Amino acid sequence: MSVDQIFDELLNRESLFINKRVLSHDYIPEILPHREAEIQKLAYILASALKGGKPSNVFMYGKTGTGKTAVAKYVLKKLIERGERLGLHFKYAYVNCRYRKTNYRVLVKICEEIGCRGLPETGLPADVIFDKIVKYIDERDQLVVIILDELDWLVKTSGDDILYQLTRINNELNKAQVSIIGITNDIKFKNYLDGRVLSSLSEESIVFRPYNSEQLYDILKQRAEMAFREGVVTEGALRLAAAYAGREHGDARRAIDLLRVAGEIAEREGASKILEEHIIKAVDEVDKDIIGATVRDLPLQEQLVLLAITVLKALGEQQITTGKVKNTYEKICTYLGYSPLSLRRLNDILSDLETLGIILAPVTSLGRYGRTKLISLEVDLKSLVKIFLEDSLYAAALSEFVGEEAIQKIVKAK
Ligand SMILES: Nc1ncnc2c1ncn2[C@@H]1O[C@H](COP(=O)(O)OP(=O)(O)OP(=O)(O)O)[C@@H](O)[C@H]1O
Ligand SMILES: [Mg+2]
Repeated sequence: MSVDQIFDELLNRESLFINKRVLSHDYIPEILPHREAEIQKLAYILASALKGGKPSNVFMYGKTGTGKTAVAKYVLKKLIERGERLGLHFKYAYVNCRYRKTNYRVLVKICEEIGCRGLPETGLPADVIFDKIVKYIDERDQLVVIILDELDWLVKTSGDDILYQLTRINNELNKAQVSIIGITNDIKFKNYLDGRVLSSLSEESIVFRPYNSEQLYDILKQRAEMAFREGVVTEGALRLAAAYAGREHGDARRAIDLLRVAGEIAEREGASKILEEHIIKAVDEVDKDIIGATVRDLPLQEQLVLLAITVLKALGEQQITTGKVKNTYEKICTYLGYSPLSLRRLNDILSDLETLGIILAPVTSLGRYGRTKLISLEVDLKSLVKIFLEDSLYAAALSEFVGEEAIQKIVKAK
């Protein structure tokens, strides 16, 4: 088929999608099935603001894709709308700490969100910005809710000073009030916090349980009806996508991704319906995507440690100990011209990779040889190898330490 024919065919064919945007990560539907209890709880907590009270700070915790961000934004939007109708000055500031890991950047983002402009790009000390925020809020607003999403990223990078300050901001405000909503999917997060910060942050807490397959099915069905033309998505495909996404820990984001990618695959193939086979093809693509995004987000040294584990695994190593990882990691560092970190830092990195769900690293006793971590991959080796191959330096290292032939075998395996 010529390029022109491809274009012609695409233009003449009716798309399977009618509204693809509803399948994007930040779309929030008007109804969030199976989150009624969490929505109600948050609404009750915030409702006191409508009568002039100060809502408690809230800590929201649950695994990835369980609707934390969606619920927080959904309820806040409603609260602001209701406040407006009552003539109240409510605002909220949404900060995703994954992309703003320093105190400075979090404060600047809060400023932007509440409309406090005129800050220089850099150069102001965090204290000064903090004071500006206090003054700005106190002059204009009655309530500002600060949502600190993916809060673990900030605290791991920059400690909890800023949280301490923010949870005490009300002492400095005369007229306005601030409530904080902290959100995380990291189970160990509480360990990073000072006791005082933790207790003021979690005056109230809401736990988000993973969805089961039936619940995911309902969520998918709602999205499918909005996203695709009628009759395009088959019942079997929906069931299968829900089952796949429910298998690990009930991640709605993954379920929706599967549906979107299956739709794209079906469309590419010129199919008129989305069938189970399209979901199966989507699984591979989506998994690679999710792992890929996580791996690409890792700092350099963490990528190098993960590469070392990947090399060992690709070589068929049965017992991957900390010692073996260290050895291979150092060789890779030398080969690529980076300086390796100490054993202590290496252990920290292994813990981080475990927190991210990329590896498992339980400490095991090796009898008289002492104790070590025994490391295994929690993600598919083939996907990981493919991701590393996208980067020419890492591809060179894989070829050097595993061998081109073995690498190709892994990539081509079913
Ligand atoms: N009950 C629900 N009904 C409809 N859509 C939902 C529901 N729960 C989650 N979603 C959708 O699934 C996706 C993931 O949800 P969300 O971003 O809220 O997850 P999260 O708990 O914040 O995950 P993470 O910890 O990874 O940030 C979003 O696109 C969201 O709109
Ligand atoms: Mg989220």
